[in-house]
Amino acid sequence: MLRNFLYVLYFVQKFLKGSVISSSLLNKKLKVALTYNVKPEENISGERTPLSSNSNAIKNFNDTYAEWDSIETINAIKDSLQLYHEVIMIEANEDAFEKFRNIKPDIVFNVAECANSTSREAQIPAMLDMLQIPYSGSDPLTLTTCLDKARTKEVLSYHGIPTSKFLLLEALRDLEKFNLRFPVIMKPVAEGSSKGIFDSSLINNIGELKSRLTELFSEYNQPFLLEEFLPGREFTVAILGNEEESIVLPIVELNLHELPSHLAPIYSYEAKWVVDTKDNPLNIFSCPAKITYDLARIISDTALRTYKVLRCKDWSRIDIRLDANGIPNVIEINPLPGVLPDPNDNSCYPKAARTAGLSYQEMINKVLNAAIKRHNLT
Ligand SMILES: Nc1ncnc2c1ncn2[C@@H]1O[C@H](COP(=O)(O)OP(=O)(O)O)[C@@H](O)[C@H]1O
Ligand SMILES: [Mg+2]
Repeated sequence: MLRNFLYVLYFVQKFLKGSVISSSLLNKKLKVALTYNVKPEENISGERTPLSSNSNAIKNFNDTYAEWDSIETINAIKDSLQLYHEVIMIEANEDAFEKFRNIKPDIVFNVAECANSTSREAQIPAMLDMLQIPYSGSDPLTLTTCLDKARTKEVLSYHGIPTSKFLLLEALRDLEKFNLRFPVIMKPVAEGSSKGIFDSSLINNIGELKSRLTELFSEYNQPFLLEEFLPGREFTVAILGNEEESIVLPIVELNLHELPSHLAPIYSYEAKWVVDTKDNPLNIFSCPAKITYDLARIISDTALRTYKVLRCKDWSRIDIRLDANGIPNVIEINPLPGVLPDPNDNSCYPKAARTAGLSYQEMINKVLNAAIKRHNLT
């Protein structure tokens, strides 16, 4: 009981420390451009369009655009920013550069995932750097590094941050170098939102590994990452703010043992998009995670160190899982975390913010304000 009280107190303290970026301190109305990509079966005109509530249409869709946002999310971000600022919508495509150049926003709120290669999340920030327009979130170097999960793990290892042992395979013949312990998890090196991580990606022997890899190499035109499986509890950690004002929002636990028993204990494509629907939400999340103060502290410190060494800016969400010895290991970093507004959608960054007492609108504006402060626009 006392321990539970202490770890909640720990977050509250951390949180209050970060309150200097609260929206009330900024009373200047800015010209904010929101740059985004919407899943292709939806569209956006820049005007407020009726929300699509047919999320099953998205969830039954194949995973090509799994990282792109729904119109519901983009409208919710727009509405949040509009509480304090003038908002201009700029779709993240080839025409965006000219629009940014002509409109000259004071700052850009960037949630654009874009497409084509591991540079995709960096494409808009690189345009904005060229035009010297400030934007929220991390820079091209961090976005590209975090998208490449192998490169991320190299950086983490250099800084002594625990991450599971891995092997990058560019072709099937690289399996000659295989030196990991089974079970292993296999993933495309540069995808997000569980693209290419299926229930069948948890592999127990070399025969299974060869046949799955042969299949996937032909489907995904990119190297594959093999990682030793971390068998412990899984958490995801939302961070908000910069430098000494970076705060850890309440930790979310993914109770993977509560998945239907035919599924492997991983947050796979099936778990994220098929089993979990709006009509039948999968309740495997606890926030704040029911963990001791000591474990909360170690997880938070690991996440903050990760945020720092990867030079994340304004916000990020870091996936962490305990190894066989109970040590928190970093799985991956999401410098553009998903922010689905409907609590039934189980989006973890907004879930952590809600637990900290922040509404969706406050959360979005705190991220923007962290960026405004970092760019000295106050
Ligand atoms: N090394 C690992 N050990 C155990 N589980 C893992 C490992 N890597 C990934 N997973 C599982 O797969 C899920 C998705 O992997 P992740 O790299 O976070 O991909 P995504 O970018 O799709 O979120 C994780 O949330 C976790 O459940
Ligand atoms: Mg993840």
